[in-house]
Amino acid sequence: MAKDREALPMKIPQHVAIIMDGNGRWALSRSLPRLAGHRAGTENLRRVIEACVELGVQYLTLYAFSTENWGRPVEEVRGLMRILEDVIDREMAELHKNGVQLRHIGELDRIKPSLKKKVLEAIEMTKDNTRLVLNVAFNYGGRDEIVFAIRNMIEDGVSAEDVTFDLVNRYLFTAGSPDPDLIIRTSGELRGSNFLIWQGAYAEWYFTPIFWPDFGKDELKTAIEEYSQRNRRFGQVNKKK
Ligand code: IPE
Ligand code: IPE
Ligand code: MG
Repeated sequence: MAKDREALPMKIPQHVAIIMDGNGRWALSRSLPRLAGHRAGTENLRRVIEACVELGVQYLTLYAFSTENWGRPVEEVRGLMRILEDVIDREMAELHKNGVQLRHIGELDRIKPSLKKKVLEAIEMTKDNTRLVLNVAFNYGGRDEIVFAIRNMIEDGVSAEDVTFDLVNRYLFTAGSPDPDLIIRTSGELRGSNFLIWQGAYAEWYFTPIFWPDFGKDELKTAIEEYSQRNRRFGQVNKKK
């Protein structure tokens, strides 16, 4: 079975985005605290990133903390901040060695200064890497991003007739990244939860019931195989062959 799948020529998405969901339920199903689920949800990161590099995906965007996630219990929010810090400490050298360029999408302002500094240093260190662009969505919300873009356009004195799709793209946190081709959501939830609401206008969606900590290389390959079979029309009709 695995062999047959490997034999298929795969259409590789240029940009994959993932809503990494289900850490809490993964922990609950093992009678562990929610934070144990969040920690487990960082163990597979390296494998998923490696798989993207191997398959030739050029942009990977990971939804790690939403603007709405501030509404969770203080202890969970604090734990998530600590986990992000630990992941940077643990993974950055290896990611840098593997040619991964780190970017952040979202607002860093509400994040404590020492963590913000770490994120900015990691971005600076990896800025010339070209194998994979890794966008980490942390304190990210799609609506927040659009408000931020409109505010900045007004502050820059942009006139109404100059507002185009391209200009809006340039004001979003994702400026410089192409739109996501494939958005994956783990844990069985069938919603977007404020993720890439502008950029995902024509993304293909893939939903899996697997909780994020159990999502690995094989699951990523399965998602890309399914993507490969999709017929993207962008509102048009298929061209005659
Ligand atoms: C996703 O897992 C991680 C974050 C949102 C930070 P959840 O914490 O949402 O896990 P569930 O959905 O409660 O299982
Ligand atoms: C979306 O998951 C945010 C992240 C995965 C970071 P949530 O668990 O916060 O979303 P809802 O509450 O199920 O919509
Ligand atoms: Mg969730």
